[in-house]
Amino acid sequence: MKLVFLGPPGAGKGTQAQRIMREYGVIQISTGDLLRANIRNNTVLGIEAAKFINQGDLVSDDLIVNMIKNELEYQDMDNGYLLDGFPRTLPQAKVLDKMLKDRDEDLNAVLVLNVPEEDLIKRLSGRRTCSRTGKTFHMVFNPPKPADLIDINDLYQREDDKEETVKRRLEIYRNQTQPLIEYYTKKGKACEIDGTGNLTDVFGRIKSVLDKVIKDQINN
Ligand code: AP5
Repeated sequence: MKLVFLGPPGAGKGTQAQRIMREYGVIQISTGDLLRANIRNNTVLGIEAAKFINQGDLVSDDLIVNMIKNELEYQDMDNGYLLDGFPRTLPQAKVLDKMLKDRDEDLNAVLVLNVPEEDLIKRLSGRRTCSRTGKTFHMVFNPPKPADLIDINDLYQREDDKEETVKRRLEIYRNQTQPLIEYYTKKGKACEIDGTGNLTDVFGRIKSVLDKVIKDQINN
């Protein structure tokens, strides 16, 4: 399956991507994770990207497109992929259309995870990441179990999860990324999913959508 994951910051895309990978064997390609790895490794891309990410702004389309093209070349995608965080602007969506055409591929679905803004703020303010494993938790809704952590001090809060930056990210999502829902609806690809409720309930809704996508694929 070839999938795109859309949704506002904190909707649960990264969390649910882990479950989708386990259930369907696709790989997750997360532009946010790739950018953060570049920042940790102090690469030229990372130094440039950090200026934007830490303010809650988007990184330029050119940098993102080059990064994703490199990643798609090197990854083994035989079992399909889930693009998490890309595309995020209309120009990026058009580049993706061209890339898919060149590879003679088509998207099976664009999953749109919908969560109201008050829930997003609660989710982002309680999110903590483990510096050793990169795993993400929530201190109330999805707390780490003893086996998940070596040291509680390994947990840190993402720089862009600070309150002011979150407001900026939500505004950018509304202005630049939300229009993609209409773009993919017109192409008959958008599948809107209620992202409220607990992690298992949300995954159940995603699974219903993906099982139907697979069934339709077999029948066509
Ligand atoms: P990115 O890392 O992609 O951030 P994002 O899209 O803002 O998404 P998040 O990672 O914040 O949230 P999520 O939906 O994955 O939620 P999660 O599962 O962690 O991008 C970061 C930055 O990089 C961007 O701002 C931009 O600057 C740059 N960037 C990236 N891609 C780019 C692009 N294509 N173009 C330009 N710039 C780009 O869940 C959040 C929390 O909620 C967690 O604590 C989790 O445990 C909890 N949670 C999850 N599900 C539930 C639930 N059902 N109930 C309760 N809590 C839950």
